[in-house]
Amino acid sequence: MSIINITNLYKTYGSGESEVKALRGLSLSVDNGDMIAVMGPSGSGKSTLLNIIGCIDKPTGGKYLLSDRLIDTFNDSEMAELRNQKFGFVVQDFALVERYNVYKNVMIPLTYSKKQIKLKRDKIGKVLSQLGILEKKKAMALNLSMGQRQRVAIARAIVNDPDIILADEPTGSLDSDTGSEVMDILKKLNEDGKTILIVTHDMNVASYCRRIVKIQDGKVSK
Ligand SMILES: Nc1ncnc2c1ncn2[C@@H]1O[C@H](COP(=O)(O)OP(=O)(O)OP(=O)(O)O)[C@@H](O)[C@H]1O
Ligand SMILES: [Mg+2]
Repeated sequence: MSIINITNLYKTYGSGESEVKALRGLSLSVDNGDMIAVMGPSGSGKSTLLNIIGCIDKPTGGKYLLSDRLIDTFNDSEMAELRNQKFGFVVQDFALVERYNVYKNVMIPLTYSKKQIKLKRDKIGKVLSQLGILEKKKAMALNLSMGQRQRVAIARAIVNDPDIILADEPTGSLDSDTGSEVMDILKKLNEDGKTILIVTHDMNVASYCRRIVKIQDGKVSK
C-alpha cells in the first residue's frame, strides 16, 4: 500500500524575473515500509520534494496524497501537526541547539505534547539508548563528535514515533565510517517499520536503500 502518492507535482518559487521552476511534473509513489534513495544533480529539486512531502512547503500544482488524503485538504494546524507527528526530519548539519544538552535537544519535538513529563523522560531515555548515546544525555551538543550529533538528530527525529523519516544528506558532514554507522541506524529503523526517504549523492548510502529514485530537472528520470 502506498503511503505517499504524488502525481504531476509542480513547485515554482518566486515570479517574473526571479521565477524558478524547481519541480516540473514529478510523479512518485512510496510504499509503506519502503526505503528510498533520492539522487540527482545539485538544483534538481530533491530538497524541494522532501520539504513538500514533509508538509514544510506546499506545491504550486499537481496532486499529493498522504495516506490517501489530498494534501490541499489539510489546514495550517493540521499541516503543523503532520510535520511534528507523522514525519521525522534529519538534515546534513544536524540542526541541534548548541547551548542545549542532548536530553533537551531531543525534548524539543515533545514540547507541546500533552504527555506526562515522566512518559516524555522515559521515551527520551529509550531513543537515546536505542541510538547508543544514553551516556551523553547531559553533554552539551557542541561538545559532541559529528557522529554523535547525527545520532542526537536522529533521536530527535524519532522521539514522536513518526511513520516517515525524511533525511536530506544525513551523511554529508560525516566521514565514511561514521556515515555507515548512521546508515546502519536508518536501516534498522526501516526494518522496524519506518518508511524512509534519503537524499544523497553517495552511492554507498544508496546501497542501503531498497530503491533509488533519480531526479533531474524537477522530475523523476529513468
Ligand atoms: N526557497 C527558495 N526560493 C527560491 N528558489 C529556491 C528555493 N529553494 C530552492 N530554490 C531553487 O529551486 C531549485 C531546486 O532546489 P533544491 O534545493 O530543491 O535542489 P537540490 O536538488 O536539493 O540541490 P542540492 O543537491 O544542491 O541540495 C534550485 O534552482 C534552487 O535554487
Ligand atoms: Mg538539497
